[in-house]
Amino acid sequence: MTSQPMTNDRLTILITAGPTREAIDPVRFLTNKSSGKMGYSIAEASAKAGHHVILISGPTNLDVPDRVDYIPVESTQEMYDAVEHWIGKSDVAIFAAAVADYRPAVVPQQKIKKTGDTMTLKLVKNPDILGSARSEFGYKGVLVGFAAETENLEDNARGKLERKGCDLVVANDVSRKDIGFDVNENEILLVFPDHTEQPPKDSKHHLAHVILEHALNLSTLGNSD
Ligand code: PMT
Repeated sequence: MTSQPMTNDRLTILITAGPTREAIDPVRFLTNKSSGKMGYSIAEASAKAGHHVILISGPTNLDVPDRVDYIPVESTQEMYDAVEHWIGKSDVAIFAAAVADYRPAVVPQQKIKKTGDTMTLKLVKNPDILGSARSEFGYKGVLVGFAAETENLEDNARGKLERKGCDLVVANDVSRKDIGFDVNENEILLVFPDHTEQPPKDSKHHLAHVILEHALNLSTLGNSD
């Protein structure tokens, strides 16, 4: 088993997981196919390894792992506010959530009525939570992002690593049906500033331990500077 911490310290690990929901009106929303399985597996592995876990999650059908501090959210703005509040208390932050980049510009208080044959929904940009970690929140801990890509996996992940100041980006190909969204297995690329690793395809449960081990390693390296 590779889940033991690389130090004897009990670290605080913040994890985002699941999808966000962006309201269109009181009964409809925009969302995505994230089940939360990847993020919850990391939360479970972290808690079992003895760390303090803050799990900030959009709506899922999963049981919350034992011994984690669970903060449920719905929208990207709510996730942003929760991360802003808690990230300063964490040593490692892992962003596995599938976050909506845009939300409806206006959300009426009443259900939208059917009128013409077409309807235009105006969207406005959401805050980039991972992208705010270093710049807006002043986060100094180990920062692990995810990248969900349908093409140019490694290049796109490396771009995110550099733009968002990450120590590691976990990239997955979400064009495939057998890995990525809402399945039990994943095949990931671990993109570091100076190299890339490709663990074999495996269960999200096992890959959670792999990701955690690398994040803890980065934490140990940082502490020894
Ligand atoms: O939940 P599962 O069904 O198990 O599926 C797992 C997964 C595919 C959702 C997960 O492994 C994954 O890839 N999560 C990231 C999905 C995503 O939003 O990727 P992205 O490339 O659009 O975003 C890059 C990074 O920025 C991510 O760490 C994301 O959490 C973060 N982000 C994105 C937009 C935004 N407004 N704020 C963010 O923090």
